[in-house]
Amino acid sequence: MRPTLIWDLPTRLFHWALASSFALAWLTSDSDPWLAVHVFVGYLMLGLVGFRLVWGLVGSHFSRFASFWFGPKAALEYLKQVAKGRAPRHVGHNPTGSLAIYILLGLSVLVGLTGVLTLGGDEQQGLAAGWFSFAQARILKELHELGAIAMLVVVIGHITGVVVESLLHKENLARSMVTGFKQADAGTPKTNARPLVAVLMLLAMLGFGGWWFTYAIDRQIDTQTWNTRLESGTVEEPHVKFVGKQLPDNPQWRDECGSCHNVFYPALLPARSWQKMMTEQDKHFGTDLGFDKATSDAILKFMVDNAAEKHAVEAAYKIEQSIAATDTPLRVTETPYWVKKHREIAASDWANPLVKSKTNCAACHSDADNGTFEDGAMHIPAAPKAVTSAAVAAPVPAASKP
Ligand code: HEC
Ligand code: HEC
Repeated sequence: MRPTLIWDLPTRLFHWALASSFALAWLTSDSDPWLAVHVFVGYLMLGLVGFRLVWGLVGSHFSRFASFWFGPKAALEYLKQVAKGRAPRHVGHNPTGSLAIYILLGLSVLVGLTGVLTLGGDEQQGLAAGWFSFAQARILKELHELGAIAMLVVVIGHITGVVVESLLHKENLARSMVTGFKQADAGTPKTNARPLVAVLMLLAMLGFGGWWFTYAIDRQIDTQTWNTRLESGTVEEPHVKFVGKQLPDNPQWRDECGSCHNVFYPALLPARSWQKMMTEQDKHFGTDLGFDKATSDAILKFMVDNAAEKHAVEAAYKIEQSIAATDTPLRVTETPYWVKKHREIAASDWANPLVKSKTNCAACHSDADNGTFEDGAMHIPAAPKAVTSAAVAAPVPAASKP
């Protein structure tokens, strides 16, 4: 018996990258501001599993599926032997460990794919944006979460197995997944370290991360608004900028409805509310809109086409669900969902000169004019320490025209 290379570098890199991704995905699973990180590690996991499937065919001897192609029966049998304390030592993966690997690979794919689909429906972002409505995404989200829990259970089982095996055969299995070396006899099949493949993997991961956290995310946020406010010192940088696709726009609607106040995107109220608002346009909150018929019709069409019922974004779905079928609210700020979401905002925040009115949506939602109301684009402005003329003049831009 002498120290022998068993795990090639790509396999070790894969193992620890997958483990870290999984841990990071759990840590960021319940936090909207970290969604961009969560989604990143999700895509990373899918990429890693894709690599592993190829490496299982062309990698070194002990990394190939052929070297640990045991069935569930063998896995159970091995488990029984472990329980009796007389399981034989395997230089490569043992039958129970192999089963855990196959289950983890399968679950990674399931969790990764349902994650992409959930993101597409729940947040209307990513590769599957627009494939499902917010309502349909709920089922996908359930599957995503169940898959993740199942994965956690198998991971715990896997770690337990590593500890038990390490004790049973008096060797540190976790360390050998770091160094690649185990004690083996002379006849053991040879493993090539394959450093070049590992370096390429590392570069691909770094490249993907660099692209994701600079270009892929920044491209989508309304950076201009944020930068104005960052410079005026009234907001902190959002944790992670993550704003999805733009909703349909209409210059005429933006001009006409944005002349007195910032526009309220059609997704914020159901179609019947917009119809009523336009029918009663001569008494629009104390003013007369005075649009001619052609203008009225054109604006109304845009609003009805993009009303809350279309569920284009999470906010639209939630607002629509919260309104009783018999109600036709004319104020977004009176819909139950809006009230619920803003109930806990302190009076001092509403009184902030940068906010002034609760209809000043853009004071806290940098994407208000686009109607997306992304979590990542939301930030309550800090009360200006000393109200300087710059701080008062800079923020709260009027309806931005794209
Ligand atoms: C002539 C000025 C004017 C124009 C033009 C105008 N509004 Fe208003 N709008 C107001 C005023 C005033 C209020 C009440 C503001 C407040 O209470 O803070 C208001 C309030 C609203 C509200 C309620 C906000 C809330 O949730 O509390 C909605 C929705 C709204 N307007 C939609 C529209 C739409 C859609 C158009 C274009 C068809 C439009 N407005 C054009 C003056 C105008
Ligand atoms: C004083 C700052 C402030 C103003 C002004 C404000 N909001 Fe908000 N809004 C918040 C905060 C904070 C949350 C997050 C609450 C939470 O996560 O529970 C929020 C959440 C929301 C959400 C839910 C986002 C989601 O998770 O889907 C919507 C939709 C929304 N706001 C719409 C509006 C609209 C429309 C207006 C203007 C009529 C408005 N807000 C004005 C601070 C504000």
